[in-house]
Amino acid sequence: MKILFIGDVVGSIGRDMLKEYLPKLKEQYKPQATVVNGENAAGGRGITEKIYKEMLQSGVDLVTMGNHTWDQKEIMDFIDTSKKLIRPANYPNNEITPGKGIAYIKINQLELAVINLHGRAFMGDLEDPFRVGKEIVEEAKKRTPHILIDFHAEATSEKETMGWYMDGHVSAVLGTHTHVQTNDARILPQGTAYQTDVGMTGFYDGILGMKKDSIIQKFLTQMPARFETPEEGPGRLNGCYLELNDRTGKAVKIKPIRIDTDHPYFY
Ligand SMILES: [Fe+2]
Ligand SMILES: [Fe+2]
Repeated sequence: MKILFIGDVVGSIGRDMLKEYLPKLKEQYKPQATVVNGENAAGGRGITEKIYKEMLQSGVDLVTMGNHTWDQKEIMDFIDTSKKLIRPANYPNNEITPGKGIAYIKINQLELAVINLHGRAFMGDLEDPFRVGKEIVEEAKKRTPHILIDFHAEATSEKETMGWYMDGHVSAVLGTHTHVQTNDARILPQGTAYQTDVGMTGFYDGILGMKKDSIIQKFLTQMPARFETPEEGPGRLNGCYLELNDRTGKAVKIKPIRIDTDHPYFY
């Protein structure tokens, strides 16, 4: 099973990068499932229904979210009817929280389960992602051995811990949220592909996909600042390509992807 995962799409530059490079990546890797984190797709804050539908039209099979899930109020109107959009599974009142934290992608006779989890270190106080994650993984295992976790978390320690905790139980633990790609993609001993953060897709000449000046001012003055995504400028696409054993679901390959528009790129 071949899977393409693309990290936090930020603003219009991120969306344009996705539109431009997804066909090229599909041509090169021939993925059977494409999963994209879309928590920053609407100007850095959440996602709209229009953007969600555009992503599906450009060839995305499933959109995951994160701490910015609820930033666009309108998500409350479409998350429950959007079968290809998931949000973190570990909300404290998960049953009554709109949306779902897991979805399945059909791939011929096989299925890929995708689970979205939210970290707790230096983040909001959600339910324990390890306990909730394990429960959901056990449920998913009854249906398929092909399981991918998007662990949306800040701390490298929490993410590495999730990787080791899930080793042998899922096909991959891929980190999102920090927007900076880490150089540690590997397959853990029991067959779980792992990368601390796949990185973001968006404006590349700034800070985490945002314009840099107001963020520099914020660090210098400790005054509130507006974080804005620019309309134009160089873009970057960050992601990760996975191959799984069709029978066992174990990872056989993980390859980070990074494309910069203004540099010689590799992917
Ligand atoms: Fe993000
Ligand atoms: Fe985030």
